[in-house]
Amino acid sequence: MASVLELTDVSFVRNGTRILDSVSWTVDEADRWVILGPNGAGKSTILQLAAANTHPSAGTVEVLGERVGKVDVFELRTRIGLAATNLARRIPAQERVGDVVLTAAYAVTGRWRERYESFDLERAAEVMEAWDLAGLSTRTFGTLSDGERKRVQIARAVMTDPELMLLDEPAGSLDLGARESLLESLADYASSELAPAIVMVTHHVEEIPPGFTHAMLLADGRITAAGPLAEVLTDQHLSDTFGVPLQVRQEAGRWSARAKH
Ligand SMILES: Nc1ncnc2c1ncn2[C@@H]1O[C@H](COP(=O)(O)OP(=O)(O)OP(=O)(O)O)[C@@H](O)[C@H]1O
Ligand SMILES: [Mg+2]
Repeated sequence: MASVLELTDVSFVRNGTRILDSVSWTVDEADRWVILGPNGAGKSTILQLAAANTHPSAGTVEVLGERVGKVDVFELRTRIGLAATNLARRIPAQERVGDVVLTAAYAVTGRWRERYESFDLERAAEVMEAWDLAGLSTRTFGTLSDGERKRVQIARAVMTDPELMLLDEPAGSLDLGARESLLESLADYASSELAPAIVMVTHHVEEIPPGFTHAMLLADGRITAAGPLAEVLTDQHLSDTFGVPLQVRQEAGRWSARAKH
């Protein structure tokens, strides 16, 4: 199995602070990873490294077989889908939802715009349908709720057919119904053989979509546990990572956790 992401002894230092410390981690193409850890643990920083948006201070990052720092990152980034809150802020409020999704393809296939136009339109319609956005295509991005915006960001990332999909807190700030329906869409997406390797950052084990295979726990910039979900999501590992006694349960493919008394 080919690895799509390989971090070797990665440290990341900013303003004298060691944000990541000796992180080594491999993601294979059939993997669906979740990264969990307290606020400030370094989760989003790992996604930024995986997206080739930044360089490690020490160690190496290989994404899709290319060593970050040695290749044209603009070319590499077109092969990576990233849905993160800081990107959503760059989408103009007056842009129509259909265009937000469609233009993701033009960033990749710009030169062939004329030739691929109908193909792209069909693909955009298909992606919007899969992510429950079909009814919103003529609305402007600025008028959407937080939950709808999350879906648009993911759909935009899916549209480019990435070889690696990175999701930073896709279910953050969603209400219960919106969260459950997003998890269903994510589970559907993750279960497809055509889907790329996926790495999703979240704060809650309840937000792990069924079908996800691996977990990394991170605290203070260090990996506290990483590997197959069932081996990593134990009371002990979660308690150590979050610094409070926790009890974790798995039922019908879903996880939950609460304080242990
Ligand atoms: N440029 C920077 N200079 C100094 N510190 C930084 C910089 N960028 C990030 N940090 C710090 O690095 C730590 C890790 O940040 P990161 O955003 O990766 O955490 P996170 O695990 O995603 O947290 P959250 O759960 O709150 O999103 C934080 O303490 C943050 O303040
Ligand atoms: Mg974060």
